[in-house]
Parts: sequence; structure tokens; C-alpha cells
Amino acid sequence: MRVSALGFILLVGYSTALTDIEHKPFLRKNMDPIIFPGQYKSHMHSFYGSDAITKDLPTTAELQQGCPSGENPNDLSIYWAPTLYYVQGDNYTEIYPATFKTYYENVDKAEIPFPPNFYAVAGNASAKSQADVSENINALTWWCDTGADDRNTRPRATFPRSTCAAHMQVILRFPDCVDPNNLQNHTYAAMNGGVCPTGMKRMVSLRFSVRYNTQKAIPQGWSGIPPFQLACGVLGDGYCFHGDFINGWFDDAAKTMLQAKGQTFMRIDGAHGNGKQYSSCKTKDQNPTEGTSDYLTSLTAMGGA
Ligand SMILES: *[C@@H]1O[C@H](CO)[C@@H](O)[C@H](O)[C@H]1NC(C)=O
Ligand SMILES: *[C@@H]1O[C@H](CO)[C@@H](O)[C@H](O)[C@H]1NC(C)=O
Ligand SMILES: *[C@@H]1O[C@H](CO)[C@@H](O)[C@H](O)[C@H]1NC(C)=O
Repeated sequence: MRVSALGFILLVGYSTALTDIEHKPFLRKNMDPIIFPGQYKSHMHSFYGSDAITKDLPTTAELQQGCPSGENPNDLSIYWAPTLYYVQGDNYTEIYPATFKTYYENVDKAEIPFPPNFYAVAGNASAKSQADVSENINALTWWCDTGADDRNTRPRATFPRSTCAAHMQVILRFPDCVDPNNLQNHTYAAMNGGVCPTGMKRMVSLRFSVRYNTQKAIPQGWSGIPPFQLACGVLGDGYCFHGDFINGWFDDAAKTMLQAKGQTFMRIDGAHGNGKQYSSCKTKDQNPTEGTSDYLTSLTAMGGA
């Protein structure tokens, strides 16, 4: 039997995409409801998902009151990551993702859906070197979408050292084991020989895939250390990339997701609609006069760092 090249990639690729959702960015602000609840003193983050998000840590039920920026109306989760900037002197211009996607993988291994009120952080916002990054656990890597890329000759969590012909992509995987009796007690199966520690349950493996439109932001390209900076980092380094997730999946769809076990894509439909239909509501900032969306102002709010 012949196996096509594509089939080969799907079968042996390091991760099989069973279902995914695209989300539009709808808010950037100097807040972090998990790390700094109730305050505007975080580095800048870009937010994707339920617009019910504020500076305060929400419950799943509260997120479900919002309008989703993503294509699946059954997913009112909120997802965020540090904002990426094109830097020219002290002019910081956001580089928008061409796509921000959340993938839900290793579904065949999952024992439970994301529990209500589950939230988690992936990555290390203080990371300053490749040694602070655990790629073998969370997959954090930056590369050029075309594949023509230098990731094996530079530290893999720095940005590519020459122009990406298409987008610049980053991926990051979230914890997939949780203690159902203490949701803040969670970890990665990959840290425990590929299985969850005794007493924990396996969830699907959430992975961010962000494809930044560097071509549009910097048409002239770059060579050497690129003029990009994450809100948490320094010029040229992607080490501090991190992600946050608060579960807002409606119960029915979260359970349906556990059926996405094959090698082919499964759309996650639910009582709120088909999983690719987007929503007719308009996302908005719940507190437009609070916090800042300006990079330099956010530094002042952090204490002049
Ligand atoms: C900042 O950079 C952006 C992107 O290159 C440019 O469009 C904008 O005009 C610049 N702003 C200032 C004040 O130089
Ligand atoms: C995160 O980065 C900091 C800063 O370099 C480092 O001290 C710490 O060990 C890292 N944490 C992990 C879990 O690797
Ligand atoms: C975390 O969960 C594991 C497995 O249930 C358990 O052994 C451990 O005591 C828990 N730790 C905390 C701090 O709850």
C-alpha cells in the first residue's frame, strides 16, 4: 500500500491535529487576570476568545456571558500571550498574527474534558535563555512557516535570524494532567514518562500556534537579530513567550471534543452552533477607560522598568 507524503506526515508528525479553532485578537492591555488579578501592572498581552475578560480572574460561567472572537461559538474560553512588537527606536508597533489557532491534541489519551474553572499558564515569562525553556515538555519553538529556516543553528526559542518568506510561527503546549480535587495542581504527562501522576486525570493537550505576519509588518525583511520584541522580553529573543488559558467551553461541546480521536479533523459542534460559524455578536473591551494598550505607558505602569 502506498502512503502519500501527506499521510506520512499526519501519521508520524510529532503531533496530530485533531481539532483546532481560529481566534481573532480583540484586545491588548497591560493586564493578566491569572498572575496580577485586579491590577493593571502586567506587561502587554494580546487576548483571544471571550470578551467577558477583565483584569479580574473570571469563572467559566462568567466567560460564557461574553462574545467570542473565535470561530467556535461553543468555546467561550479566553487565551492570551505577550504582545509582539516591531521596534524602531522607541516606536513599538504591534505585529499582528495572520492566524492565532488553538489545537486540541492527544484526544485519544484524554480521560476528562477541561474541568469548569480550570486555568493554566504555559511557558516561562521570565525566561532569558534556552536553558530556561523546556521545549521537550511544552514544545516552545519559533520558526519560519516555509520551513526554510535556521532553527537548528540558533537557540530554537530565539527568533529566526533572517527574513521569513511567509509567516513567523511559534508553538506552545499546555499542561494536560490535572488533580480534579485541586485544579491548580496540574502538570504535563511529558514530565512523568508520558502518563499523568497517580491521582491526576489526563485532559486533551492544548497547543497555541501563532503565525505572525512579519512580512506585512517588515516588508524589507531582516538579517541577523530581528527588530522584534515580546512585551516580556528583549530584542531578538522569544524565550519569554508564554500562554494563558481559562476554560470557557460549554459542557456539551467540551465532552464532544473527546470524540475527536481519528487522524482527521473533527469540527466541534454544540448547542451554541456549528464549530466554524463564528458569532454575530461584536467583541468589545469591558473597561475601555482602564489600563493601557500602549507599550511605553505599560512600562511606566509596571514601575518604570
Ligand atoms: C512607527 O512605526 C510604524 C511602523 O513602521 C509607522 O507606521 C509609524 O508611522 C511610526 N510612528 C512614528 C511616530 O514614527
Ligand atoms: C524561568 O526563567 C527564570 C529566569 O531565568 C529561571 O530562573 C527559572 O529557573 C525558569 N523556570 C523554569 C521552570 O525553568
Ligand atoms: C497533586 O496531585 C497529586 C495526585 O493526585 C497528589 O499526589 C498531590 O498531593 C497533589 N498536590 C497538591 C499540592 O495538592
